[in-house]
Amino acid sequence: MSTESPFPHSLRVLLKPETLRNPAPVYAAWRETDPFFWYGELGTWVLTRYADCAAVLKGLDRFTSDWRRLGERMPAELVMLQTVDPPDHPPVRRLLTAAYRAQDHAALAERTSQRVRRRLAGLAGAEFDFVHQLAIPLTVETICEVLGVDPPDLDWLNSVSPPVIDTMDGGLRPEVIPAGMAARAELDELMERWMVDHHPGGMFAFISGRTREADRRLVLNSLRSTFHAGFESSARLLTLSLLALTDNPGSIHEFSKNPDLAVEELIRYTSQVQVLARGCLADTEVGGRKVREGEGVTLIIGAANRDPAVFADPDVLRLGRSPNPHLGFGRGLHACLGAGVATMQTRALFTELARGYPAVRPRAEPVMWDSGTLRGVRTLPVDLGR
Ligand code: HEM
Repeated sequence: MSTESPFPHSLRVLLKPETLRNPAPVYAAWRETDPFFWYGELGTWVLTRYADCAAVLKGLDRFTSDWRRLGERMPAELVMLQTVDPPDHPPVRRLLTAAYRAQDHAALAERTSQRVRRRLAGLAGAEFDFVHQLAIPLTVETICEVLGVDPPDLDWLNSVSPPVIDTMDGGLRPEVIPAGMAARAELDELMERWMVDHHPGGMFAFISGRTREADRRLVLNSLRSTFHAGFESSARLLTLSLLALTDNPGSIHEFSKNPDLAVEELIRYTSQVQVLARGCLADTEVGGRKVREGEGVTLIIGAANRDPAVFADPDVLRLGRSPNPHLGFGRGLHACLGAGVATMQTRALFTELARGYPAVRPRAEPVMWDSGTLRGVRTLPVDLGR
């Protein structure tokens, strides 16, 4: 193992304030000096090369998302789409995918653009917090429309969501787990209410009559995480994207040249899902290293998305980048179900900003969430520039 990296071989580096704002130097140092290192504190390999991360995500026979297969106990609340393998995974994935595809996505995109225009017009002329006054309300409304439910109280939501996200770093910060489980229980009560109290046509209406097709608890937990990812991951993408675009002058204008490519590049460049974890089911080899049954494998997706072996000038934001095979939405069996909605909202917001508010700019440095797994901005004062 090389010792040249200026950063210790510890996932705790991802929680340092300077890394939260810009993890690229850590990614590069690890990838260049030791792209496959053992992190004993968590009993896991840490992988930063694109090829190795992609191989693990595709190696379903050798790597699992279901830690029960390695003898670990998993609380019933955590058994959901993301954490089960076949044979449990396909029925619930089919059900959620059918419910998601049954939505009128063209009409949803149109209404999202209208909502964006309305919100921006209401915020013009004064400084505001991009996260709480724009990104979160917008993404909550959109995911609630997809689910076919009334948006919950945002103050309540902003109190239960961060503790759930904190648990994603639970290996490094076990003290956050009890608060996260309590917050999940509150979200579960909301899912139970939505199973009876929903509008016709949305995902809840589609699913509530069909839960016999898959285990009810598994379905409800999966809907909870769909709702949660639906607004939190998306809101984090929107805010990190605004930072990326305003850190790179001229980019807001350039966004409109090819919004589809631009959104994919923003996902690669911002990589809000920085880390995915898998367990090894049988002794195997990845990237020339032996991985043993029972060992963890931590994939630093953010680093893979900046791998120069795949992306030329990886630390440069190139809105026209093509091809752009980033891993920001995962790969394989567990690839993101809602990528279309996340990209649609990003297109809608930045198309409108480029058209009507090209001088948009932050008024201060962002305050980042201290989250290593799901990067994000906590507050960002912004001025629309008119
Ligand atoms: C910027 C926004 C988003 C990002 C970056 C993102 C990223 C991801 C990633 C990386 C995975 C793979 C997890 C794994 O392999 O362990 C995933 C899975 C998933 N995502 Fe997203 N997501 C986003 C938005 C959404 C939205 C809007 C929804 C719902 C409408 C959603 C629903 C899901 C679900 C249900 C899964 C689990 C799929 C499965 O295990 O079969 N995500 N997402």
